[in-house]
Amino acid sequence: MGDKYEPKILALICTYCTYTAADMAGSMRLQYPPNVRIVKLLCTGKVDVMYLLAAFRAGADAVMVSGCEIGDCHFLEGNLRAKERVAHAKVLLDELGLGGDRLEMFHIGASDAPKWAEAVQKMTRRALELGPNPLRGRAMAAPQAASGRELST
Ligand code: FES
Repeated sequence: MGDKYEPKILALICTYCTYTAADMAGSMRLQYPPNVRIVKLLCTGKVDVMYLLAAFRAGADAVMVSGCEIGDCHFLEGNLRAKERVAHAKVLLDELGLGGDRLEMFHIGASDAPKWAEAVQKMTRRALELGPNPLRGRAMAAPQAASGRELST
């Protein structure tokens, strides 16, 4: 019998909005799965398609990008750029056979802790439905040039 599948989810989130919501969700003791690893960014405008693909190459089962609500980005259009890049990466993931549904963009305001908890629940359910990333286990065989490191548990 193999090990039980516990999805590894990477969340690239904006420090101004979603990170505050995630922090508040913890303070409010909202229930959401613990299998999400957070990388805090100044703005989701920093997200690049290559980073997203590298996350999957490193073994992530799902990746979520979450920034400020539309119109609230502190850098004006960073979240809109992130949204476009996520949409592009989803197409590439479909073409690669990994599945674009493993990646999703969210817009979560600083005071919306319940929305953060729901987003993590949604991505966890989706990752469970899709099953493990087929690149899992092969992640460490990838050259370091991809800047990928295997996600630790
Ligand atoms: Fe939050 Fe740009 S500052 S997404």
